[in-house]
Amino acid sequence: MTSPLFRTKKVEQSIRDTEEPEHALKKSLSALDLTVFGVGVIIGTGIFVLTGTVAKDNAGPATALAFVVAGVVCALAALCYAEFASTVPVAGSAYTFSYASLGELPAWIIGWDLVLEFALGTAVVAVGWSGYIQSLMENAGWEMPAALGSREGSDVFGFDILAAVLVLVLTGILVLGMKLSARVTTLVVAIKVTVVLVVIIAGAFFITADNYDPFIPAEKPVPAGQSLDSPLIQLMFGWAPANFGVMGIFTAASVVFFAFIGFDIVATAAEETRNPQRDMPRGILGSLFICTLLYVLVSLVVTGMQHYSELSVDAPLADAFKATGHPWFAGFISFGAAVGLTTVCMILLLGQTRVFFAMSRDGLLPRFFSRVHPRFRTPHRPTILLGVLIAVLAGFTPLNELAALVNIGTLFAFVIVAISVIILRRTRPDLHRAFRTPWVPVLPIVSVGASLWLMLNLPAETWVRFGIWMAIGFVVYFLYSRTHSRMATGEDMEPTPPKPPAS
Ligand code: ALA
Repeated sequence: MTSPLFRTKKVEQSIRDTEEPEHALKKSLSALDLTVFGVGVIIGTGIFVLTGTVAKDNAGPATALAFVVAGVVCALAALCYAEFASTVPVAGSAYTFSYASLGELPAWIIGWDLVLEFALGTAVVAVGWSGYIQSLMENAGWEMPAALGSREGSDVFGFDILAAVLVLVLTGILVLGMKLSARVTTLVVAIKVTVVLVVIIAGAFFITADNYDPFIPAEKPVPAGQSLDSPLIQLMFGWAPANFGVMGIFTAASVVFFAFIGFDIVATAAEETRNPQRDMPRGILGSLFICTLLYVLVSLVVTGMQHYSELSVDAPLADAFKATGHPWFAGFISFGAAVGLTTVCMILLLGQTRVFFAMSRDGLLPRFFSRVHPRFRTPHRPTILLGVLIAVLAGFTPLNELAALVNIGTLFAFVIVAISVIILRRTRPDLHRAFRTPWVPVLPIVSVGASLWLMLNLPAETWVRFGIWMAIGFVVYFLYSRTHSRMATGEDMEPTPPKPPAS
């Protein structure tokens, strides 16, 4: 592949870049930090909010199976991510990995795609957080004016001030430094996991076996006129669009997939990890395993406590306790959810700024954004720019449908990463891989198939939106990035200057 569109950035160059003092991030994270970091971002709106929607509309008690399906898709992708993260330990996640293997244009596409995933993901979670805070405030008899609350179903045009403020405060914390945010994360993760365990253990006492019958509800046709909302796969094959049944489990899996987003962000912190070769795979797989187990248990308990058709879509975990006559638990769960969503939001924002940082360091975005702060050693410029943009987005954006867009972007990244594993094994067999994906190329190929399958189960209109975003990306690449890339300007050819003594 000699076309400049497929020029690849050497893995050694990627690692050298991280050593240039003015572009270097602090290396301070351990395997435990990464696992906490992973659990911190993975458990969020997915389990706290989407479980109810999906059980009610798509899968009933079989939502637990949907979590298993989505978990398996993520585990396959995680095995590919872990190999790349331990081979190419630099900021940028799938973006960096594909730059080293597939070439510049595919890397640009994936970077652009990750910007969408993380930015919209941050906005979605911030809006979810605001919903829980408002629900707590309502418990105390204090209501936000409709114009500042913009809740789902409200017909007043509003700006969700709480969501916007949350994003701005978190932006400030990230600018001040990674270590501070890691400490805050640890505390919040502890609260969040406690709440999830309370749901599982206390809820188990309130299960009614009848609610599991039938475990997989019979298929129901979707009303006419909503065909663009239907999974693409149903439209492609001309099937009558339907919910529930076995296909409903896959539709549900493509939605609750959102609940797993975040383990890939652990990979974006590779550059800030003390021993990435050993700790990255442990951090990624460990956090994924813990979350899958918790999700399956939570969804079994919740659909056992309340009939799926009666579950609430705003706060299903808390409301299931209210429905069984335990409002005290409900308040505690709402509080924990609000606290927990804070870290999710922060880490998504962090992943977002790191991808932007890496793209800027490579010259694909203006290099102005990749100078780290002289004192805090954080990429303050992209953090502030994106923080403000996302705050505005979170203020105006309704939660619905955005989650699907985030999912399609993430699944697309999985596809690219799995393909990259196979390619890099062939083009650079010499590289040291602390973690090797088993059964290459079979496992990555299965991972590609599984991710594509979930993508096809997303609504047709999500595909249209995703197509538009990617088309804009192509325009930016051909108008700016292609000529400003460091690979194009030849900067990469220069030898790295000797490092100045540490001060
Ligand atoms: N996995 C995260 C959540 O569910 C993004 O909120």
